[in-house]
Amino acid sequence: MSSRWKRALARKPLESVLADAEASGLRRQLGAGSLLILGVANILGAGIYVMTGEAAASFAGPAVLLSFVLAGLACGFTGLCYAELSSVIPVSGSAYSYCQVTLGEGLAWALGWMIMLEYTLAAAAVAVGFSGYLLSLLGDMGISIPAALAVSSIGADQVGGHTALRLNGGVNLVAALAAMAAAVTLIFGVGRSSLANTVLVLIKVAVLVGFIAVGSRYVQAENWQPFLPANEGGFAYGWPGVLRAAAMLFFAYLGFETVSMAAAEARNPRRDVPIGILGSLVVCTVLYIAAAVVLTGLVPFRELGVADPVALAVDRIGWPGFAILIKIGALTGLGSVLLANAYGHSRMCLTMARDGLMPPVFTRVHARFGTPWKGNLILGSIAATLAATLPISVLGDLICLGIASAFIVVCISVMWLRTHRPDLRGGFRVPLGGVRIGKVWIGVVPVLGIAMCLSMMAPVLADMFTQVRRGDLLPATILTVYVVAGIAIYFFYGLRHSRRVGLAGEGSVA
Ligand code: ALA
Repeated sequence: MSSRWKRALARKPLESVLADAEASGLRRQLGAGSLLILGVANILGAGIYVMTGEAAASFAGPAVLLSFVLAGLACGFTGLCYAELSSVIPVSGSAYSYCQVTLGEGLAWALGWMIMLEYTLAAAAVAVGFSGYLLSLLGDMGISIPAALAVSSIGADQVGGHTALRLNGGVNLVAALAAMAAAVTLIFGVGRSSLANTVLVLIKVAVLVGFIAVGSRYVQAENWQPFLPANEGGFAYGWPGVLRAAAMLFFAYLGFETVSMAAAEARNPRRDVPIGILGSLVVCTVLYIAAAVVLTGLVPFRELGVADPVALAVDRIGWPGFAILIKIGALTGLGSVLLANAYGHSRMCLTMARDGLMPPVFTRVHARFGTPWKGNLILGSIAATLAATLPISVLGDLICLGIASAFIVVCISVMWLRTHRPDLRGGFRVPLGGVRIGKVWIGVVPVLGIAMCLSMMAPVLADMFTQVRRGDLLPATILTVYVVAGIAIYFFYGLRHSRRVGLAGEGSVA
C-alpha cells in the first residue's frame, strides 16, 4: 500500500484527542438544559416554517406527518449513535473528531467535508426561508421589493412527480443579505451568547405552540381527506411521495448534531451531551408532528406550496394580528438557526484547519472579538451566493445527500468503537444491543440508522437521476464537483499539511 494511503488510513489515538480537548482552553460551563436549548436553537427553523408546505403540497398531502415520523426516526437512530460517541469521545469537532479516532484521517476528512456541505447549504436554505417570511411581512406593511431581487436565479417545479428546473432571471438578494448578516453578526460573538440563544428559542417555540393551540380550534377535518392521496406518477403522493417528503424534511431535524460540537464546553459531557441531543430531537419531533397536523387541517394541502405556509394557514383563521406575530416569530426562529448554523460551521472549519486539513485562514481569530472572523466571512459569502441563486427544494435535496452519508459514517463509527475498543465506556450506550460476528459488533440501532439514512437518500438520488435524463444537470453537477474537489483538496493539500500529531499507524488500535 502506498504511503499516501497509509497516511489517509492512519487514526488519531483517543488519548491524544482527549488531551487536545483539555488543552483547548474552552471553559466547561454548559449544563444539560443549555445543551438542550442549543439543540432546539439549531433545529427548529426553515424545515417546519417553510419546507413542510412544499412537502405536503407536492409529495405527501396530509400524510406529511408520516414523513416527519420517518425523518425523525432516521435522525433519532443517528442521534443515539451521536450520543454514544459523544459520551466516549467528549470533544469539540463532532463527528469529524470521532472519525479521526475510529476510521482514520481520510474518512474523517470526507465526513467533515460532507458536514461542511450541509452547513453551507443549510445556511443558504434557511436564508431563503428567511427571505420568504420577510417579504411576506413587508408586504403586510405595504412595502414591496422588486421581484427580480427576491427570487432565486434558478427555480424548481414539480413536473410529473419529478423536480424540473427553470431560469427565473432574478437573484435573491434578500436571502443573500440574510446569510451575510448572520456571518457578520457572529464575528461580534453574538452567536455564542447563551442568553440570546435562550430568548430566541423561547420566542420561536412559543410562536409554534401558539400556532398549534390556536390553529387546532379552526381545523377543518375535510382538509385531511384523503389522508394519503393516491399516487399521481413519480413522487407525487402515495407512499413514494411520503418517502420523498421525508427526504426533504430530513433537513428539518438537522442541527441536533451541533450539540456534540459543544462537548468540550459541557460541564458533564458524558451525561449532558446525550441529554441535549436526544432531548432536543424529542421536543422538535413532537412540535413538528403537531404543527403539520394543524397546518394541513387549516389549508387544503395543494395550496401549501408557498414561501410562508404557516403564515398562509394563520391567514385562514382570519386573525390579521396573529399572522403578523407568527411571521415575526418565524423570522426570529429562522434568524436563530442562521446564527447557530454559522457558529457550528466556523467551529467545524476551525477544528479541521487546526489539524492542517484546511487552510490556516480559518484559524485566524479576531484580536478583539475572539472569533474566527475571516472564516466567518468566507463561509458567509459562499452561503450568500448559493442563497441568491438556488431554490430551497434543490438546497434541501443536496443537504439530504450530504448529511445522510455523513450520518452513515457516524453509525459505522459506533460499531467500530464497540468492535475495537470494547473497554471504552461512556455514560451512554445505544439501546437494543447487537450481535458479535467474530470480533465485529453489529448493533441494532446503528444498522437501523444506516438503513433509514439510505432510505432518505434513495428518493433524492432517483429524482436527481430523472433530472439528469431530462437535461437538468445542475444539482448532480454541484454534488459531483463538490465530491471531486473534496478528494483533490485532501490528496493535494490535506495530506501535505496534516498536523498528524499522535496519529496511530495503519492498522493499529489506539
Ligand atoms: N433544522 C434546521 C431548519 O429546519 C436546519 O432550519
